[in-house]
Amino acid sequence: MFLFTWILFIDKYVALDVLFAGIDIPFNCEFVVAQPQNDFVLLSEIYRVSSSQSLQFNRFGNWSQSLGLSVPSCGLYARRGNLNGYTLKTGLKIEHTDRGQHDTEMNSFSTDFFLEYWRYLEKEINFTTEYHYPPDNAYGGKLENGTWTGVIGMLKSGQVEISNVAFEMTAERSEAVDFTLPLYNVRTGMIIRKPSSVALPWNAYLKPFSFKLWAAVLFIMLLSVACMSATRQTSIASSMFLVTAAFCLQGQNLLQRCTSLRLVMVTIYLTAVIVIASYSASFISRLTLREPALPFTDFNEFLQDGSYQLAMLPSTSRLDFLKSSRAELIRQVYKKTVAPYEKNFPTQELVGVESICTKDKYAYFISDKHLVYFSKKISCSYAEIPGASYPGSVAIALRKGSPYTKLFSFRVQEMRRSGLIKTIFIRYSSRLRQDSVEVRYDIDVTDIAPILCILLAGILTALCILAVEFHISKKVGPHRININ
Ligand SMILES: *[C@@H]1O[C@H](CO)[C@@H](O)[C@H](O)[C@H]1NC(C)=O
Ligand SMILES: *[C@@H]1O[C@H](CO)[C@@H](O)[C@H](O)[C@H]1NC(C)=O
Ligand SMILES: *[C@@H]1O[C@H](CO)[C@@H](O)[C@H](O)[C@H]1NC(C)=O
Repeated sequence: MFLFTWILFIDKYVALDVLFAGIDIPFNCEFVVAQPQNDFVLLSEIYRVSSSQSLQFNRFGNWSQSLGLSVPSCGLYARRGNLNGYTLKTGLKIEHTDRGQHDTEMNSFSTDFFLEYWRYLEKEINFTTEYHYPPDNAYGGKLENGTWTGVIGMLKSGQVEISNVAFEMTAERSEAVDFTLPLYNVRTGMIIRKPSSVALPWNAYLKPFSFKLWAAVLFIMLLSVACMSATRQTSIASSMFLVTAAFCLQGQNLLQRCTSLRLVMVTIYLTAVIVIASYSASFISRLTLREPALPFTDFNEFLQDGSYQLAMLPSTSRLDFLKSSRAELIRQVYKKTVAPYEKNFPTQELVGVESICTKDKYAYFISDKHLVYFSKKISCSYAEIPGASYPGSVAIALRKGSPYTKLFSFRVQEMRRSGLIKTIFIRYSSRLRQDSVEVRYDIDVTDIAPILCILLAGILTALCILAVEFHISKKVGPHRININ
């Protein structure tokens, strides 16, 4: 962007294209020529889309003694929004292995929703695209010796003018390239294969009711026992037995038919039915909506777990984030779980994402927008680690000092304000939404271990009591047991 507006005063009869033949007036330069006409001064803007293109004239305004200055009220890029079919060289990273026959087809193998923005820009700004592909098929990272790889490297060397993929804006990258205003925000996070075991903790059977509610149920049972014994029809012991049976929804054959006892029994049964119904509802819904048991939930637990390796695309801002983070924790994550495997990282996102299905103990670092795109192409379900992510913004990158940066920024801002960016993304992601692969949870022995343990404990206790009874009856001798 030039800081000044240039004005050149020349004579009425000078032909501008002859005067400026061979002189480049860059696209982002405000250069106005003032030529006196009969009763006013004509102001025209001149520029070239690129140094090899013909000179463009735009009528800019008039100045006359009587009317003063009249110039357009809109800004530079609202007036100068047309590249006249100029061919921009762009750098594109291919995301698929199955390349097309012709170069022009290759552009459809990138992340499609960005290309929809691109097609919109092509139409709005009126330019065509010449695709170039980085030899290492990478987005762009900085090597130790300061050289940039991938598309960023191509931009830096001036091989291409603009990127055809959205780049995450980082401080390091902005030293090598220029960015437009951000297109959208992303969150880069860790995914792993969805664990097939689910969390069914030992206290799962107590969880449906809170501690206070359990206390209330116990209190009601005791109160019921008290009420029942107060009718003087049953003993305390048999009242306890009857109340417990009622709360297990077991019927009984009461010999006594006195009204007070019946009233108490009706109350107990009604209470028990409500308590049991709400317990079952809560318990069953907990069983149905079980969450997979994640082995870790954030970077810290990931590091402590230590059994997973973390992979991502090489030469990306994600890798740079882990590599050059100021947080000790993140640097440790890089050192222990990333660096040893860095040489073997897949250069295609799809291959990397698919690896979480085919390899065990494999975590993958990916941005949420890419995940939307690739999640439907992979063969297993994935789980996102909620606490292992970081936010960022992506934008179009241009060669440092490119004359088109402001123009693209202007258009990007317009697209954001009009909601187009969001609309395209939503339309795009809903098109991808199919029936996702469901993980089915089979109940295995470990899941019902609590029930089995209670059963086992019951059997053991019963055996012990039987042994004790046996012993006593031997000593005391057989006698009739009165069950009533
Ligand atoms: C400048 O003057 C011409 C001729 O008088 C007129 O047609 C044109 O609309 C004027 N332009 C502006 C921007 O005032
Ligand atoms: C785009 O540029 C071409 C080439 O200069 C021109 O013929 C065409 O009219 C332009 N289209 C628009 C919509 O401005
Ligand atoms: C930096 O290293 C890469 C590969 O290791 C090499 O291709 C490149 O030429 C080096 N650049 C400089 C400036 O040394």
